Amino acid sequence: MSQIQQRKDDHLRICLEEEVGTEASTGLGAFRLEYDALPEIDLDDVDLSTKILGRSLQAPILIGSMTGGSEWAGEINHRIARVATRLGLGMGLGSQRAMLKDRALAETFAVRKTSPDLPLLIGNIGAVQLGLGVDLEQLRYLVHSVQADGLFFHLNPLQEAIQPEGDTQFRGLFSKMHEAIDALGVPCIAKEVGSGISEKTAEKLSRLSLAGVEASGVGGTSWARVEAYRAKEQSTSAILGQRLRAFGTPTAESILHCRKHFSDRLVIGSGGVRTGMDVAVALALGADAVALAQPVLQAATQSEEALEQFLHNLIHELKVICFCTGAPNIAALRQVRLLPAGRSHA
Ligand SMILES: Cc1cc2nc3c(=O)[nH]c(=O)nc-3n(C[C@H](O)[C@H](O)[C@H](O)COP(=O)(O)O)c2cc1C
Repeated sequence: MSQIQQRKDDHLRICLEEEVGTEASTGLGAFRLEYDALPEIDLDDVDLSTKILGRSLQAPILIGSMTGGSEWAGEINHRIARVATRLGLGMGLGSQRAMLKDRALAETFAVRKTSPDLPLLIGNIGAVQLGLGVDLEQLRYLVHSVQADGLFFHLNPLQEAIQPEGDTQFRGLFSKMHEAIDALGVPCIAKEVGSGISEKTAEKLSRLSLAGVEASGVGGTSWARVEAYRAKEQSTSAILGQRLRAFGTPTAESILHCRKHFSDRLVIGSGGVRTGMDVAVALALGADAVALAQPVLQAATQSEEALEQFLHNLIHELKVICFCTGAPNIAALRQVRLLPAGRSHA
């Protein structure tokens, strides 16, 4: 097994077995949606469908970018894709770098071969790879070989700095991203992996011709912490990964920055989104859709049925919240008033 394949399996195992969250809050719980005891709609009237990158989803939910690149990862990807197809949700792939090294691994990402009706599929590569030899032809291969509708460029300086074999050459990346995105001709989205998009980053990213941005803020899976578990016990990486595990911008704040600087472009809220209420608050803060990673992995590992049940409950919770805020659809939910949680507004 190659180093990348081994790393992919380590990540899956650690995310399933260890405490990879932190004590830090997403900030989503600081808000409550205005409840309406006289909503003037039927529960059955609520329509959660939405369009993301021109694709129709049954609910504004994506399965977060996670995996691919090993046999185990491939099984998980194909399982997730089948459930996402049945429920009409979008899906992100994990970093596809492994398939540039070994083309046989493309099968572990090519979920549209088994789920041709998957409504939305987005590929994934680390932006740092643009400075390390990944060229336009390879980017095109990543997108077209899996029939993706777009490509995520992940930005993960903290994770790379903690990872013992990490790639930390971020100098000059903005102009490399500029060139690649302009030349690629498919919708590109920048994302963090759990340390969030600050105001400063959102402003910089907004100057690129990105189709959108994914917040992936602090409050969910901490990739500094995941790398700490992978590192040798008592090593500098192990210690720093724990110390810096909550470094970054919380999810709620990150969504606000992304929306402010991306005006009418796509904003995906993610990082610790766990419940229908988290989804609703993220949308009311300005996200067009949300992405969930770690809880989907947990459920998918149990069984396809467990994953379908988990997502069904999440979608139904969102529907009930729409009903009880008088929002017949997602556009209306995004206009519902947000109040500070835990405080009377009288
Ligand atoms: C097992 C696992 C693998 C991941 N791999 C990637 C990856 O390859 N590329 C990427 O952009 N994000 C990756 N992520 C990060 C997620 O897309 C997401 O941004 C982050 O985990 C926060 O969401 P969560 O709190 O719902 O897990 C991964 C997450 C998990 C749980």
